Amino acid sequence: MKKILITGGAGFIGSNLVRALLSSRPDVQVCNVDCLTYAGNLENLAGVDEERHIFVKADIADAPAMEKVFGAHAPLAAVINVAADSHVDRSIASAAPFIHTNILGTQVLLDLVRKHEVPTFLQVSTDEVYGSLEPPVEAVEDTPLQPGNPYAASKAAADLLALAAVNTFGLDVRITRCCNNYGPYQFPEKLIPLLIGNARDGKTLPIYGDGKYIREWIHVEDHCAGILAVLESGRPGQIYNLGSNEPLTNLEVAAVILEAFARPSSLIHHVQDRPGHDRRYAIDSSKARDGLGWKPQWQLDAGLAATIAWYKEQQSWLDNVRSGAYREYYQTWYEQRDRSLGAL
Ligand SMILES: NC(=O)c1ccc[n+]([C@@H]2O[C@H](COP(=O)([O-])OP(=O)(O)OC[C@H]3O[C@@H](n4cnc5c(N)ncnc54)[C@H](O)[C@@H]3O)[C@@H](O)[C@H]2O)c1
Repeated sequence: MKKILITGGAGFIGSNLVRALLSSRPDVQVCNVDCLTYAGNLENLAGVDEERHIFVKADIADAPAMEKVFGAHAPLAAVINVAADSHVDRSIASAAPFIHTNILGTQVLLDLVRKHEVPTFLQVSTDEVYGSLEPPVEAVEDTPLQPGNPYAASKAAADLLALAAVNTFGLDVRITRCCNNYGPYQFPEKLIPLLIGNARDGKTLPIYGDGKYIREWIHVEDHCAGILAVLESGRPGQIYNLGSNEPLTNLEVAAVILEAFARPSSLIHHVQDRPGHDRRYAIDSSKARDGLGWKPQWQLDAGLAATIAWYKEQQSWLDNVRSGAYREYYQTWYEQRDRSLGAL
């Protein structure tokens, strides 16, 4: 059995990646390290194959704790760093946790990958590192980095540290830069689950500024498939953009969700804009498409419809997160599994 360490595996993308790996790679065991911030939710992992999933509660920036994890789970076939503080608004309110996890945490992992001779390190990054681009420009992998907010700047810093480890120490590091994700288990501070929850409850849908901010949207399953394609078929030291080529403005996203819940457009409520809000992200992902044979399987309209249906069916998941009750789930999980949880 190959052991792969995934960080941030109780979050939105991390939990989907854990599920994707366990269901599609029977020879893989996952060591999932997450410190369970407000965005980490063990309920996202309910039902995964517990024989092949080891959960460790630890902070990736805590070098002694992570040293123990690397030692206890050696040899690791790969490390995939998904953990991050990930919400732009929170980074504007306070950048400190972003510096801690996204920058320091990445360096701690790089140091341990080198020390323990882990063959491959995959850094999950974002298209936000390229900053806002005027149409029709699309970022390619060597487009200059121009992060426009503290979150994006912390992710760009992590990318540069990862690339420096390639140059300085010859590590096999790979970076994925994906566009905006949607899908199951996304924390409802992010646009799509936030709007779904509010539309469901007949509340107003808050939209920043004029709502004409453009993002490329990709289903989280396609992002996870891209991460695995880069891990298994990518080249060391390379960056891969993972995009959908399916842009929508925030107002267009809101319109789809309102229609799905048969709610009137009068529920749209324009609120004061986010400072320094990047107008448009756009990436060219032909390097991954042509070089790895990866391409998204979900069309945006079908993916959004499936996602809305998922949140409609999983009302208790959404309600638990919105009420904070998911933290009680952690207590139960902890009590039942204190042999593996926190054992390191
Ligand atoms: N969501 C998107 O649209 C998107 C798009 C492109 C790239 N990304 C990148 O994907 C990654 C995951 O994003 P997400 O949306 O799933 O985020 P998320 O906020 O849903 O999950 C992050 C997870 O990391 C954990 N975590 C945070 N700090 C930690 C620390 N110090 N130690 C251990 N665990 C810690 C949290 O508990 C949580 O489980 C991030 O690196 C993000 O930059 C996200």
